[in-house]
Amino acid sequence: MRINKFIASCGVASRRKAENLIKEGRISVNDKVIFDLSIDVDPINDKVFFDGKEIKIENDEKIYILLNKPEGYIASVKDQFDRKSVLDIVKIDKRIYPVGRLDYETSGLLLLTNDGDLTYKLTHPKHEVDKTYIASVRGIPTDDELRSFRNGLEIDHYISAKAKITVVKSDVKKNYSVCKVTIHEGHNRQVRKMLEKIGHPVMNLKRISMGSLSLNQLEVGQYRYLTEEEVRYLKNIK
Ligand code: URA
Repeated sequence: MRINKFIASCGVASRRKAENLIKEGRISVNDKVIFDLSIDVDPINDKVFFDGKEIKIENDEKIYILLNKPEGYIASVKDQFDRKSVLDIVKIDKRIYPVGRLDYETSGLLLLTNDGDLTYKLTHPKHEVDKTYIASVRGIPTDDELRSFRNGLEIDHYISAKAKITVVKSDVKKNYSVCKVTIHEGHNRQVRKMLEKIGHPVMNLKRISMGSLSLNQLEVGQYRYLTEEEVRYLKNIK
């Protein structure tokens, strides 16, 4: 089994994050630190260690959780700043990890699972599903600005793919607007950077849906297990 898949099957990290762990020298196989991402391991006979602790493939029960993430939580395991993590909210005795990114200051829909294959698929650029956000922004976007947002903007070192944006509400006196934005990519802080680029910095950002999954009435800080139908939907995304 390819080493990154093995690490993901142990519930340590997604396959892509597992590759970072390898590059950082945190994985050893049979007592030897490895840096080669293409190594295969024998799940029965090889011993694999993460930060010096042996890791083993977890039994196969898969868990799929939808959380309404509050602001002020990181969507990953603890970081070096000891900030609160979404895993402090979702307390279950299985190792799960978030599917993709949601910034510390962003709230809303976040999936968590121990299904490494699904995580890999949902975060792969080839499959990335539509994600819809409600953004409160400074100012009132003009038609030209909205058009350039929709057509793609130069951000960092890429040009964003076509995206959707509508202004749901504007308040001239208070000089702010509420926009509904849909993108299918998942670059770092992408919605914030796109809105900043058209001159309307984000004051508040919330993800309300991912594909056909949505927050609906789920309160901030609450989570629920996905239904079988929802899991089937995610697995069938092409
Ligand atoms: N875009 C952002 O800017 N932040 C998020 O958390 C998600 C998408």
